[in-house]
Amino acid sequence: MNFELSPLSLAGACQDKSEALIVLVSEAFKPGKDAISLLIAHALAAKDLEFKAGQLLAAYRVPGVAAAKLWLVGAGQGTAAQIKTAMAAVMPQVKSAHIQSLTIVCAFPIEPQAVQAVVNTVGEGSYVYTTTQSKPKGRQLKRVHLGVLHANAALQQAFDTATATLVGVELAKEWANRPANHATPTALGLVAKSLAKGAKFSCDVLGPKEVAKLGMGSFMAVAQGSREPLRFIVLRYQGAAKTVAPVVLVGKGITFDTGGISIKPAPEMDEMKYDMGGAASVLGVFKALTLLTPAINVVGLIPACENMPDGQAVKPGDVVTSMSGQTIEILNTDAEGRLVLCDALTYAERFKPAAVIDIATLTGACVIALGGVRSGMFASDDALAQALHQAGEASLDLCWRMPLDEAYAEGLKSNFADVANVAGRAGGAVSAAKFLQRFAKAFPWAHLDIAGTAWKTGAAKGATGRPVGLLLHYLMAQAATTAAAKAPAARKVKA
Ligand code: BES
Ligand code: MN
Ligand code: ZN
Repeated sequence: MNFELSPLSLAGACQDKSEALIVLVSEAFKPGKDAISLLIAHALAAKDLEFKAGQLLAAYRVPGVAAAKLWLVGAGQGTAAQIKTAMAAVMPQVKSAHIQSLTIVCAFPIEPQAVQAVVNTVGEGSYVYTTTQSKPKGRQLKRVHLGVLHANAALQQAFDTATATLVGVELAKEWANRPANHATPTALGLVAKSLAKGAKFSCDVLGPKEVAKLGMGSFMAVAQGSREPLRFIVLRYQGAAKTVAPVVLVGKGITFDTGGISIKPAPEMDEMKYDMGGAASVLGVFKALTLLTPAINVVGLIPACENMPDGQAVKPGDVVTSMSGQTIEILNTDAEGRLVLCDALTYAERFKPAAVIDIATLTGACVIALGGVRSGMFASDDALAQALHQAGEASLDLCWRMPLDEAYAEGLKSNFADVANVAGRAGGAVSAAKFLQRFAKAFPWAHLDIAGTAWKTGAAKGATGRPVGLLLHYLMAQAATTAAAKAPAARKVKA
């Protein structure tokens, strides 16, 4: 999909050569003398169109308008959230109209965030999964033009970041959607390698022998019931000086979660192919980094394996020794995410990180708590929590901070090891986070539970690519603050 941003008035839009036009109509609408303005003015007067975000009016071959298809869409006051609502309302019609070229006109002043909202929703609304279909139709939309009243540097920058983010989101979706017989740990390792071809990137993919040498007894316990060999993926991006502490992203990479010996019920078990959604989001972020090349350092860690029942599988009651030296009693083999993540968190210490963020489809309890609207966010550090919250709001990829009171760790006590891998059902998303926190003491740490947000069930069943938007927003903000902190010092040296 070829996406472009440029200035465009309603009069200009009348001449536009695209097959279809979407005109967003906010309360700031000022009619000109062109055909579209007249149509909007009439429709508003007749109450056939309202400013309310998502109100739609479709028109066809309007005299004075070159595009055959035209949608007028209410956009409220024109906030980013309202523009998202408006675009999400019209995109199903665009998708079923089989259009190849589309122009979207925002004939009122907009914020950079609104540009990002348009790019996201057009991407989301035109996405088609094809990989494992024998006669794929693919995405119809080839050219999209976003016309704004006045183009400026801030809008252009937001646009460039948004289009790169979209590429990352789509890579994350692709891998989370692929079935587990295609998206194996080995395959994820190969994707990571392919992302690290550029000068500022590097990638190591460790196999069972190397992981055993590192002493990742907890990760290995999860993988031991599977015929697919595990992979531990280490991605590095160096966009700043070596001395700048990196942000480490850790993605849960369970390519299929049967539950193991504590096996899951059959209904919807197929969806556990997206249990590597955290890993997919890390790959998506790295894809976008190859396009954005911000001045920061980022490390991506992905423990990838299957969780299978087998004669050699780990059993309830087994005690394993993690890389940190802590022993873990595995009371429930279905609580495997925390078992692969804890060793990756210990491995992260060697990077002396500025922050570590793990991203995981960790608990059904988080789905119950927050549904598909906000990811659960846990943080040992208030500044990090605030930065992630803000990144979520700004990217419209929302999260919500959850508690980490010590009392939530009570249920993790074990008579046979340092810690058990499960507590009771109550507060399950929090006790999972408390388990991880034991392995994340050496750095500011946050945990994103994306079990509810990385996937949609029902008719729109499939991956969402979340939280790639949130993470990239956070990283780009880090790059901006690092640059701002450096600038005055550089000036001092010169003077
Ligand atoms: N991958 C699941 C969590 C999950 C559930 C993700 C539903 C997406 C949708 C995780 O490995 C798991 O099985 N968690 C258990 C933990 C329990 C055994 C303490 C759960 O949430 O039921
Ligand atoms: Mn599980
Ligand atoms: Zn899982």
